[in-house]
Amino acid sequence: MKEKTISLRDIEGIGPATEAKLKEAGYLTIEALAFASAKEISDATGLSYDKALEITEKARNFLGIGFMTADEYYKKRQNVGYITTGSKAFDNILGGGIETQAITELIGEFGTGKTQLCHQLAVNVQLPKDKGGLEANAVYIDTEGTFRPERIIQIANNMKLDPNETLKRIYYTRAYNSDHQILIVEELMEKMPKFGARLVIVDSIVSHFRSEYPGRENLVVRQQRLNKHIHDLHRIANLYNAAIVVTNQIVASPDIFFGNPNKPVGGHIIAHGCTYRLMLRKGKENQRIIKIFDSPIHPESETVFRIFEGGIGDVEE
Ligand code: GTP
Ligand code: MG
Repeated sequence: MKEKTISLRDIEGIGPATEAKLKEAGYLTIEALAFASAKEISDATGLSYDKALEITEKARNFLGIGFMTADEYYKKRQNVGYITTGSKAFDNILGGGIETQAITELIGEFGTGKTQLCHQLAVNVQLPKDKGGLEANAVYIDTEGTFRPERIIQIANNMKLDPNETLKRIYYTRAYNSDHQILIVEELMEKMPKFGARLVIVDSIVSHFRSEYPGRENLVVRQQRLNKHIHDLHRIANLYNAAIVVTNQIVASPDIFFGNPNKPVGGHIIAHGCTYRLMLRKGKENQRIIKIFDSPIHPESETVFRIFEGGIGDVEE
């Protein structure tokens, strides 16, 4: 029997005319309605505010979003999946690997391995569950033009995976400016099921925002836009039980003598917006030190991994 497809009409109160208006304004799925504000819908469609409010509430009920009891939340947490980083030591301090239903931020200076880790995770998410993957595909949003399929091939070969198949399971896009980056993630909300993805990488999350909104005078606008962007990423994480990994470069500024000279950019929006924050720094040779800070459930701890031709691994193997 053919599976019934869910349409906007499944929401009580949405008839053919309302459906047409919503679709015309770009609201194609119940998810899109559930996560929009009533004002936004009303402005875009010409429906009354009250009608729009009713629609968003019904859409949320339909998807089971909203208040839940702590035991229901606990059950939702039981579905959290883990993606291995490629290093057991690294996985261990994370309690299993990179989590779904969360945003993990990789922070570090240039060359600390943020992009390398992103490449490795885009492969690892594809692995079967007993090998540390989620048997799912990856989305790679590249803001700096540093994604290299050649590197994916190297990593796949080292893991004895078919490199071509591995490449086919990574949905790649460049983001050319911050508006484009925001739009990509907005559209991704609907594309996730089609992509079969459970990992979304944004490398790097702040570089466009930083260069387009320089200085204190632009701070408010920049933070507002970044805030929206991070909220969209959280929605994807929760709706599709997906892991979100974002990178954030820190720039050591020699003119700061007091406080922490290695302050991550993005300010409090990024700091509060990301669930887990991981700080990377260089160790000797190809070793890298990873430190968890600002985590709601992990103690502050650090460990060492290495970057090699085959990707990310443990120091002693
Ligand atoms: P920015 O994007 O500039 O902030 O840096 P990043 O943190 O993303 O650094 P990236 O992940 O690009 O790390 C680059 C580093 O990874 C290089 O400097 C090398 O040290 C290391 N690396 C990359 N490929 C290999 C490899 O095949 N073998 C080894 N041993 N190291 C590698
Ligand atoms: Mg990089």
